[in-house]
Amino acid sequence: MIGIIGGTGVYEITDQAQEVEKKVLETPYGDSPEISLFELHNREIAFIPRHAEGHDYPPHMVNYRANIWALKKMGVKQIIATNAVGSLQTSIGPGDFVIPHDFLDFTKLRPGTFYDQRTVHVDMTNPYCDKIRNALVSAGEVVDQGVYVCTEGPRFETAAEIKMFQMLGGTLVGMTGIPEAVLARELEMCYASICLVSNYAASISPDKLTIDEVFEIMEKRKHDLVTLINHAIEFMPPEDGCPCQKALEGAEVDEV
Ligand code: HPA
Repeated sequence: MIGIIGGTGVYEITDQAQEVEKKVLETPYGDSPEISLFELHNREIAFIPRHAEGHDYPPHMVNYRANIWALKKMGVKQIIATNAVGSLQTSIGPGDFVIPHDFLDFTKLRPGTFYDQRTVHVDMTNPYCDKIRNALVSAGEVVDQGVYVCTEGPRFETAAEIKMFQMLGGTLVGMTGIPEAVLARELEMCYASICLVSNYAASISPDKLTIDEVFEIMEKRKHDLVTLINHAIEFMPPEDGCPCQKALEGAEVDEV
């Protein structure tokens, strides 16, 4: 089964005609948002709106653990996420799709692991699944590679922060990519993201940033985003046999 996590502005991806089953799952972290189950290109799909429908949870309050746990419990082995982002580069502008290959984590307050009771250190040298990344890159016009900087939010960044992120090698800035990618790896699921650029980051754009422009671009590009996901599903690699699915091998500290 393939999991799709819909970010800002992406609360469902099926058309009216499609047969969809809806489920809410109980997890140790609370109930999941409503998950839609349907078929696409002979693959079973579980779609979950990250913020719950209607954008109820701000980025720092999203129940990332419940979302990922619920997908795992459904039988999902591969995840495609969507994230709205600001661009740190003038060559990548609003409306562009970017498939990140690495991240910088500047979150501060979020529960970031499933392993509070035992010591597990997963390898994150390559945090995004290369096989799913390849499927996404083959599926349409996207920028292959980028470093995703995740901030705590919910405020936008200062000019000095953006300058720092640029100096550190960041390409994109968003508030929702982490800990999601980490949690997927911790449960041995393949994970990659389609980042949709909604704006130039603070100070690159001379104008004040508004959430309205973020939603406006998401709405404009939503159809193309869904088309991209549709094509990517045709190119998805087989479910098994990826190193992401053995992430716990060599990660756990033996009990003494
Ligand atoms: N900064 C942080 N998160 C975002 C942005 C941004 O500029 N645009 C969309 N999500």
